[in-house]
Amino acid sequence: MTETLDLEKLEQDLIAQVDQASNEQALEEVRIGALGKKGTISAMMKGMGKLDPEQRKSTGQALNALKARVSQAIATQKEVLKKQAMDLRLATEHVDVTLPARKRSEGTIHPVSQVWEEVVQIFGDLGFSVAEGPHIESDWYNFGALNIPDEHPARQEHDTFYFNPDKDGSRKVLRTHTSPVQIRTMETNQPPIRIIAPGRTFRCDSDQTHTPMFHQVEGLVLDSDIHLGHLKWTLTEFCKAIFELDDVKMRFRSSHFPFTEPSMEIDIGCTWENGQVKIGEGDDWLEILGSGMVHPNVIRAGGLDPDKVQGFAFGVGIDRIAMLKYGIPDLRAFFESDLRWLRHYGFSALNVPNLAGGLS
Ligand code: PHE
Repeated sequence: MTETLDLEKLEQDLIAQVDQASNEQALEEVRIGALGKKGTISAMMKGMGKLDPEQRKSTGQALNALKARVSQAIATQKEVLKKQAMDLRLATEHVDVTLPARKRSEGTIHPVSQVWEEVVQIFGDLGFSVAEGPHIESDWYNFGALNIPDEHPARQEHDTFYFNPDKDGSRKVLRTHTSPVQIRTMETNQPPIRIIAPGRTFRCDSDQTHTPMFHQVEGLVLDSDIHLGHLKWTLTEFCKAIFELDDVKMRFRSSHFPFTEPSMEIDIGCTWENGQVKIGEGDDWLEILGSGMVHPNVIRAGGLDPDKVQGFAFGVGIDRIAMLKYGIPDLRAFFESDLRWLRHYGFSALNVPNLAGGLS
């Protein structure tokens, strides 16, 4: 009799606990407390071994029935709690269908990085590979090997940043152009050579179109029979591709660089409309790159034989192309890290330039 009462009391207790469980975690604790391995009901079932057969039978039936009813109560409560949780989420979470489909990410790709990548894509497509060199160069790589002897006026024109003299008296420099990579490439590669070398360059100069650090891409093509026609075709194709034009008006203007002979600067036709430049046509000219046939002294300095190897080289300002292509007036703003400027002129990280899909 007491046993029956105990079971009734236990059942009431357990059902009350089940009803009071306010979340699924609490309910699970109740279940373990009653039906788990060490739970109250499981303990009572284990204790039945001590009873005589008659009692064991009736108690067993009662416990099984109790277990079933408690399990049922737990299952029912579980459903109730699940529904409550869902209702709460439906009431508090909602989607604003007027928001743009994809939030614009905070960060943008800098126009210099974008143009850099565009240049690599274009020359990659023409079969060039990418070479690199250090920012800190010896006098030899930056000047001497490039046929710029000590007393040469080009040294002054380069507005060089010099380091303090080394023990042997020589002074390292921050490279003033990417041309030293020509020498480094010749030292470690055999013709045919077809490389570009994009990178940072440094000159002590600052105004609207000059910054102390800027970017260039060097190009070098060497083989036994490379001539001016190859230079002209390659750079024409490059200009069409980078400015995304079917045709560009170009002018190959004779010039002078110590490391090329003959040398020419390349101007591109343009017009000015309301202070904005339009590239590719018109009667005005903009200088965009320096180039020429590599000087025999430079080929020799690179460790190759100028009687067997010849070719062309060029240097383009990446920042200058970015300014022209994307209509950015002041070069200094490129390096001020002003977020408003970056948001305006920057590119989405998803907008990776490739020739098939269009560059910009
Ligand atoms: N190094 C030259 C400059 O910085 C550009 C150039 C490179 C010219 C290669 C000719 C050949 O102005």
